[in-house]
Amino acid sequence: MTTTPDAPAHAHVLRTAYQKAVAEYWNNEKDPVNLSLGDVDGLYHHHYGLGEYDPSVLEGPEETRDARIIEELHRLESAQADVLLDHLGPIQPGDRLLDAGCGRGGSSIMANARFGCEVDGVSISQAQVDFANEQARKRGVDAKVRY
Ligand SMILES: C[S@@+](CC[C@H](N)C(=O)[O-])C[C@H]1O[C@@H](n2cnc3c(N)ncnc32)[C@H](O)[C@@H]1O
Repeated sequence: MTTTPDAPAHAHVLRTAYQKAVAEYWNNEKDPVNLSLGDVDGLYHHHYGLGEYDPSVLEGPEETRDARIIEELHRLESAQADVLLDHLGPIQPGDRLLDAGCGRGGSSIMANARFGCEVDGVSISQAQVDFANEQARKRGVDAKVRY
């Protein structure tokens, strides 16, 4: 591959117009739903949820209704990641996982928390990679979880 010394690193990775468009989409993605849910405990996901929701979150004081719904939606999205991890088999602390299409990195952090293993997350979006590395650093797991 021919490279240009002064070009940013991603210029050598994103080669087609389609790849550039996908990267641009995710670089600019700041959906407050995804971010608010991740703010609950610092695990940021970009997927749906799994399981039955707890209808009791719709009861109670109006002032805290949104917070209860956000927490419940976040519980369900993390439950989905848990099901994925359930299927990975007996991962050991010395193992190393690849989280391909890692988004903001929540599943990688969960994998490391559960198994103690190393995780390499890969995203087409540099903004997501930077965000996820910052989360790993904040949690003190950046020696084992890298994006
Ligand atoms: C629906 S999100 C899922 C993110 C994460 N796995 C999760 O469950 O929270 C899809 C992710 O794939 C990434 N992606 C899309 N195309 C990619 C590619 N060709 N190489 C690496 N990442 C890619 C996007 O940046 C986005 O983060």
